[in-house]
Amino acid sequence: MQPVRYFASGAIPVSAIDEIKNRLDIVELISSYLPLQKAGRNYKALCPFHSEKTPSFVVFPDSQRWHCFGACGEGGDIFTFVMKREGWDFRTALEELARRAGVELHPRTPAQARIQEETERLRALLDTAARYYHRLLLHAPEAREARAYVARRGLSSETVERFMLGYSLAGWDNVRNYLTEQGYSVEELLKAGLLVQREDGGTYDRFRERLMIPIRDRQGHVIGFGARTLDPHGTPKYINSPQTPLFDKSQVLFGLDLAGPAIRREEYAVIVEGYMDVMQAHQAGFANVVAQMGTALTEAQLRQLQRYTRRLVLALDPDAAGVRATLRGIEVAREVMAQAWEPVFDPRGLVGYESRLGAEIRILCLPSGKDPDALIRESPQQWAELLKEAIPVVDFYLQVLLEEVDPGDTKAKARLVDTLVPILRAVANPVEREDYVQKVARALRIDVRAVHARLAEASRKTPQKQPEATRTAVEQEPGEADLEGHLLSLLLQRPGLLPQVNEILVEQQVDIVKESDFQNVGYRAIFGAWEELVSTASSELLETLRIHLPADLHTHLAELLQPDISALAEEQLVRDAVLTLLRLRKRNLERWGQELQALRMEAQQAGDVRAKQYDRAQLAHTEALRRTQRALAQRWNWTARYG
Ligand code: UTP
Ligand code: MN
Repeated sequence: MQPVRYFASGAIPVSAIDEIKNRLDIVELISSYLPLQKAGRNYKALCPFHSEKTPSFVVFPDSQRWHCFGACGEGGDIFTFVMKREGWDFRTALEELARRAGVELHPRTPAQARIQEETERLRALLDTAARYYHRLLLHAPEAREARAYVARRGLSSETVERFMLGYSLAGWDNVRNYLTEQGYSVEELLKAGLLVQREDGGTYDRFRERLMIPIRDRQGHVIGFGARTLDPHGTPKYINSPQTPLFDKSQVLFGLDLAGPAIRREEYAVIVEGYMDVMQAHQAGFANVVAQMGTALTEAQLRQLQRYTRRLVLALDPDAAGVRATLRGIEVAREVMAQAWEPVFDPRGLVGYESRLGAEIRILCLPSGKDPDALIRESPQQWAELLKEAIPVVDFYLQVLLEEVDPGDTKAKARLVDTLVPILRAVANPVEREDYVQKVARALRIDVRAVHARLAEASRKTPQKQPEATRTAVEQEPGEADLEGHLLSLLLQRPGLLPQVNEILVEQQVDIVKESDFQNVGYRAIFGAWEELVSTASSELLETLRIHLPADLHTHLAELLQPDISALAEEQLVRDAVLTLLRLRKRNLERWGQELQALRMEAQQAGDVRAKQYDRAQLAHTEALRRTQRALAQRWNWTARYG
């Protein structure tokens, strides 16, 4: 067995990022955005990320970090500050801070420059197209029908503006003519999905005589269109943009650009099926609603939402053929990993997703045959009530399945338990799982031990992890120096590791791996970009990652990929990764604890009104540290899930 090579802290070259951090002082930088007040060793201000009357935003010059003790409870360094404050991605933050610090960055690689240019052209093209359709809907005489349709569907003119709804004219070459006059080529129009290629090489407009609904990415760039027929019997009802370099239906959630702030504010997101549902919800003031656009919900979509919240509500029509079918067809033996990249819209997948990502999923049961659009138009009140009544996903599936079974039919009950086993196994938190086992036993009036026996049997047949193998594994001890680098190196080299690591963390009741676990800015950026890409399951994951990352991080990336872990068994790597994460989190928590302690003492002495907030933070901190330490202490039990 080959030992893993760990990084010594000196092995990492001083990068542009370190240079920027050396040159820019956090107090100076943040002062250029908001007035800071000296308070003891630190500085205070009204938090720029939420509205408040007394300052709970603190800047720590010693550690060059900031933290909000109020509603957002977030913290970070200069990079996270400008990213959050300006809405920049990491690359932009790096470029801007480098400019301010007078640090020279590596230029984009030729591949990056080419992709960047192409992306910008396509974005501009689609934006021009959306505006063109929008103008037609508002003013064209040919769009009178469309305007009447919009009114009939109860969409206000503000909604038409906010979603930039449009109309495509009848005829085969309107968009082509308009956009080629604007300087775009036919090739570009094809690439953007606005034209269809004929067999003889000619082209025609894809969207004709339809209500045009721009689909935008998280940042609000138009990346495609959904186009609805105005004819009540017209088929297909919707024509959507095909897959393009900018548009991948399985990655996008409709409405997320507009819903983002509301999701953050309300701390949960609602997922519905369709365009109309989203628009009607937003119009009625429910702005935390997004749509999966008719297809199965994917992990990539859920990961997008994860940037805003871990609490999700799915609006499901309980009578929809799909829900019933998936419930009946749960495959018992499917491994969590085998389905990691597949749509998760089935009970096992959803529950597994909760575990892998530490999410909390609830189901909103729609009255049969009614979609949110119709429901909200009829009674926004009722929608609000249904939202309140949304139930945890496992409870939902238990309820649906239990309703159908006759308590006198022993065979049916046994079959039902077998159907439930994979769902129960997917619940990572042991306390919750036991709760459900009890519920099932009670509802079926069978012995709890019978349910436990089925669970144990299933885990013998398809062990999710192998305790024996991991128990004998040599415990690796990465030096304090670079726990973060070591963890990241493992994750990058085995893309399947992260979900397994997260599952153990959830089981141990500690947070899953987060960007903020990485104090090293470069590592944090690499982890963030990788986490977003990994769910797309591209075979050229690392190549794609390189293109996404600023050239200044390429040496970091190369370093991380150097240790050879190919000879190590999966279980060993999972253990190693969990252990490393827990160690580095403990280290971070301890550092944070010292700062917090100092802050509390100062506040108490000064009779600061914020002292209470610091006490609360201290409590949360103590609890997090306690759980982390307990998880570390229990390392031999991590895998003994269904004994
Ligand atoms: P629905 O049929 O529920 O459409 O499909 P809808 O959004 O409620 O539209 P209205 O109210 O009938 O006008 C849900 C979603 O599935 C996708 C669309 O994203 C739609 O919003 N879909 C549906 C298609 O992509 N193509 C179709 O032909 C139908
Ligand atoms: Mn509808």
